[in-house]
Amino acid sequence: MHAPLAPTTRLPIGSDTDLARVRRQVRQAAADLGFRLVQQTKLVTAVSELARNTLVHGGGGHMEMTLLRDGTRRGLRLSFVDAGPGIRDVDLAMTDGYTSAGGLGLGLSGARRLVQEFALDSTPGRGTTVTVTDWVSGLPSPRAGAP
Ligand SMILES: Nc1ncnc2c1ncn2[C@@H]1O[C@H](COP(=O)(O)OP(=O)(O)O)[C@@H](O)[C@H]1O
Ligand SMILES: [Mg+2]
Repeated sequence: MHAPLAPTTRLPIGSDTDLARVRRQVRQAAADLGFRLVQQTKLVTAVSELARNTLVHGGGGHMEMTLLRDGTRRGLRLSFVDAGPGIRDVDLAMTDGYTSAGGLGLGLSGARRLVQEFALDSTPGRGTTVTVTDWVSGLPSPRAGAP
């Protein structure tokens, strides 16, 4: 189960330009898999927050993107990886409004609500990996010109 459909793609996250590229690639992959527009937008919004955290809090890193198949479901799994300071108190970091850096503190908590699966793995002093996965069932829907 969860067999990869294609090799994992790895994209750097080291600049605002990289953030834009990551968003664009995720939007494209989600559309290709047949995710509906609302699901695409939720996923890209979560990705935007997580990739920005990788850049701002993690000091840069990369995203790994893997296409999955599980029976008739197809999925998109995205990992945001950095070797930054890590998160000492994950529950606190996941709390709405908590920020250590003058942000809004809604990135992690918001991202968790926007995706189907969410996992945060962090070791203080070693880094952080956040992995999100979204699934779609059935055949890919036609993209262009569909009513
Ligand atoms: N990749 C990361 N590395 C280290 N700390 C992180 C990382 N991602 C999030 N955090 C911590 O979790 C807090 C909450 O993140 P978030 O909800 O996105 O809020 P914000 O980015 O606005 O501060 C951050 O302020 C930071 O302390
Ligand atoms: Mg944030």
